[in-house]
Amino acid sequence: MRKKIAAGNWKMNKTFEEGQILLSEVVNMVKDEVTNPNVQVIVCVPAPYLSSFGKMIDTPKVALGAQNCYPKASGAYTGEVSVPMLKSVGVSYIIIGHSERRQYFNESDAFLAEKVDAILAEGLTPIFCCGETLEQRNEGIHFDFVCGQITNSLFHLSAEDLKKTVIAYEPIWAIGTGVTASNDQAQEMHKVLRDHLASKYGQEVADEISILYGGSVNGANAQELFACPDVDGGLVGGASLKSREFTNIAKSF
Ligand code: 13P
Repeated sequence: MRKKIAAGNWKMNKTFEEGQILLSEVVNMVKDEVTNPNVQVIVCVPAPYLSSFGKMIDTPKVALGAQNCYPKASGAYTGEVSVPMLKSVGVSYIIIGHSERRQYFNESDAFLAEKVDAILAEGLTPIFCCGETLEQRNEGIHFDFVCGQITNSLFHLSAEDLKKTVIAYEPIWAIGTGVTASNDQAQEMHKVLRDHLASKYGQEVADEISILYGGSVNGANAQELFACPDVDGGLVGGASLKSREFTNIAKSF
């Protein structure tokens, strides 16, 4: 059975002390309230907090995630953080290809393919983000565009490696806008993506990949979204900054 995932992407929010409070609340609530053994909660916190916050997590129900990495293992790359470094402080998931990084830091599909390889080489799990703009959706090219992102960054992988990858579909027009994709829009795209994976790797492999939805997920809409057959959870931004709401989302499967 595919893993169900509630991943919080804190983005560039919270000071160290604020983050400590939020994380300790999340850990305690999840320990007490998330009873489904197939649900994995992930908290992707700002890089400077990873080492310290990792030590606060005392349950396998919550995993530590990073929001980015650099594909080289070490060397003269001032300001960057490598996958071995992240691994050494207890990170197990790494978000890559978030639309904000594609937009503000010009990250290309080819660069993301390098990051995927670096993450898998260390035995960690990439959360690979993809998604279209509103213009692309209005033009009717959204399916081709998002499938293309997956082809360009993931289709060089072996089936074994692909199975270790999590995909997050995040329509850009739904991120931070309060406009959530409808259940039908989310299911439609997730099915297209799973069919796309199946076209290269076969249905059995495609059926093992968790595909998360991201974009204005909250405590009120999570249950309906997660009930869609091809939606295996959420990558949550704003609502992951509130412990009660994020825990409720993790209980929505
Ligand atoms: P919001 O949940 O704030 O829309 O952000 C979604 C997102 O970008 C998660 O990575």
